[in-house]
Amino acid sequence: MTGPADRQERFNPGRFPIDDQRVYDAYIAGRKSAAIAAAVRAGLFDLLAGGALPFDRIQSEMGWSRRGTRSMLDALTAMGFVVIAADGFSASADAVAYLTRGAEGSLWGLVDMEVDSFLSPAALLEALAKDKATVYGGEDPWKAHGADPEKARAFTAAMHSVSERPAAGVAERLDLSASRRLLDVGGGSGALSIALARANPELECVIWDIPAVCPIADEYVRAAGCEGRVRSEAGDMFAEDYPAGFDTVLLSQILHDWSFETGAELVAKAFAALPPGGRIVIHEKLVEDGDSGPLANQLVHLDMLVWTEGQQYRVNELTELLERSGFAGVERLRTAGYWSVVHGAKP
Ligand SMILES: C[S@@+](CC[C@H](N)C(=O)[O-])C[C@H]1O[C@@H](n2cnc3c(N)ncnc32)[C@H](O)[C@@H]1O
Repeated sequence: MTGPADRQERFNPGRFPIDDQRVYDAYIAGRKSAAIAAAVRAGLFDLLAGGALPFDRIQSEMGWSRRGTRSMLDALTAMGFVVIAADGFSASADAVAYLTRGAEGSLWGLVDMEVDSFLSPAALLEALAKDKATVYGGEDPWKAHGADPEKARAFTAAMHSVSERPAAGVAERLDLSASRRLLDVGGGSGALSIALARANPELECVIWDIPAVCPIADEYVRAAGCEGRVRSEAGDMFAEDYPAGFDTVLLSQILHDWSFETGAELVAKAFAALPPGGRIVIHEKLVEDGDSGPLANQLVHLDMLVWTEGQQYRVNELTELLERSGFAGVERLRTAGYWSVVHGAKP
């Protein structure tokens, strides 16, 4: 959202006839991430979710200086996430829905992680130079999660936060009524499995993830009341064959963590494990063919550069990958916001 001043006529000096607005706006945009991450970590939106509060009360509750409180409220008002009301400041409807702790589908966990793992230009330059995940000082992120339960918990919370709303989109848009047993490869918190089990009463799901993540997934499954139909199982999608006995394999935000060659191996393993008629479902934020956006998904390439060995897929790359692996009837389905599935069946 832009404030009134952004809509005013801009004056450019004749000496510099090329407008600098797109460059300057891109440069300054990082402050938006910083402002919402700081506000989320400090609990500003949780405070304002209960209704409008006067400036002095916000300042004392947040424990910020007057200058700091004013600067944050002003910046967040300009972004549209804080709204000036007759009796003070309140949070916008989308800030309450997606920037508060504990709200279903909230992006709180994702945004909060920015405080510790902000995608800085320095991190990006390091990743470009090294061409490997640099987010934990060069350590393999999955090994780091295996060694440090707190890192695994924070990452899984962030992924849950990313995935809960799109999972509801997959559950609503993708017909899985013929599926009975779904293997959620690298299923993380189980956000997808939980949503799909809720939408398909005859479906059982197994979240197949590294040992450090399984107990965390179990907590999410219990909290969702899905223990009977969703469970976790520790495994290694590279060292092991996929477990047998599943008619559907889901890879949600897995392929984008790895190179195209490794992605092809993971899809080939799914093909080998599935019976004839079995389904594969890939869930990703896709880049449209011809690199024609959306911008938000093309920017995720940079997160993948810093965090993983992967990249975002283009629609045709994923379609071709499934077809080359032997899947038929491959189709792309938009599911929610920036999200899509590409799915197909083993002949
Ligand atoms: C980007 S997260 C995706 C989580 C979940 N599918 C979602 O969409 O919310 C990648 C997941 O892959 C898991 N993972 C990484 N290496 C793995 C391996 N070798 N075997 C099984 N799971 C793995 C991670 O622990 C993590 O939960």
